[in-house]
Amino acid sequence: MIELFPRLEEDVFLTLYHKARKTQLTSLDFDWEGPSGFDRREMQALARILTPVYLGEQSAMLGAAAALPQMFHAHETSVQLYLTSFLSDEGRHFEILTRFYQRAGEHPVRLREMPEMLRYHHRLRQGDRFDWVWGILISDLYSSLFYKLFAEARPEAVFGRISSAVLVDESRHKAFAHHYLKRALPYLDEDRRRGLIRMEEDLIEIIQAIERKLEEDARLLGLDGREIVDRWIADIEYHARQIGLKPRSDGADGGDPGERPDGGRAPLRELAPAAGEEGSSGPGRAVDGPKEGEGRRLFGFSLGRLGRPLAGAGARAAGALRQCGACAVALLCKTRAVRGALASGS
Ligand SMILES: [Fe+2]
Ligand SMILES: [Fe+2]
Repeated sequence: MIELFPRLEEDVFLTLYHKARKTQLTSLDFDWEGPSGFDRREMQALARILTPVYLGEQSAMLGAAAALPQMFHAHETSVQLYLTSFLSDEGRHFEILTRFYQRAGEHPVRLREMPEMLRYHHRLRQGDRFDWVWGILISDLYSSLFYKLFAEARPEAVFGRISSAVLVDESRHKAFAHHYLKRALPYLDEDRRRGLIRMEEDLIEIIQAIERKLEEDARLLGLDGREIVDRWIADIEYHARQIGLKPRSDGADGGDPGERPDGGRAPLRELAPAAGEEGSSGPGRAVDGPKEGEGRRLFGFSLGRLGRPLAGAGARAAGALRQCGACAVALLCKTRAVRGALASGS
């Protein structure tokens, strides 16, 4: 039933909607003649590992269009308004990345080579609006890791600038999904919650399969795809506990919710709508750290290869790992990243 004059809540979703109006970059706002920052072979590898993120932009755009009527029927007026900005964001990301492929003269990995991408796309579209929002959060956590890496490692390159701009939007998207699910979860029964966890497991399994196919391309760019996936899984688990989908362990309850064992930007601070947009700790920020070429590694990424900006994060991670007894996220301790760092005496 249509409401001619619905109640419009003054909530976080309306705030996010207003903030989205201020960041509306399209492909016309980038200097495409600037340095690419990659040689021919690296550009080919980037085109390939960017593919799942690129498909994710399109999936998010289509998914938002399908979710919008559900929010309408649920009389979630501020959420509907927010989703109109989300749709526009994902449309802009899709357009910018399409232009990037065109300017680079490269092509994404074809679906017949990597049919797992179709599975991912279809899995995101199953279920109701809660499934979709959870899938979006999982998906945005992955794309944010990806963009952040390039925004910090190649800030002057065209793709680095694109990554910085998109990260600002993704920060808002994660804030939306986090707040929406945290509000909804107390009202969902056990079956529905189990369904969300099944979705998480399915998406992780699909991304792991995709990562295996892109492992060589990632390596060519100095990246360790498995470590990226491990980090992503840890981020998902952190959010699952923070929104109440999974029980918090004693350690997680006791700590500062903004504290992360990796020493990186805390997800809750990251979720604050203004945090990513102010750029104070966001993409492109130069940080101090070991000199390029010193052979240090952060979550498996060769810092020498990726550049100096990540090195400060490496030092913070090493510092945090020394206090592993106070770790707030149990799952992260199971990852290869932590095991490897401890074994190497970082
Ligand atoms: Fe996006
Ligand atoms: Fe997004």
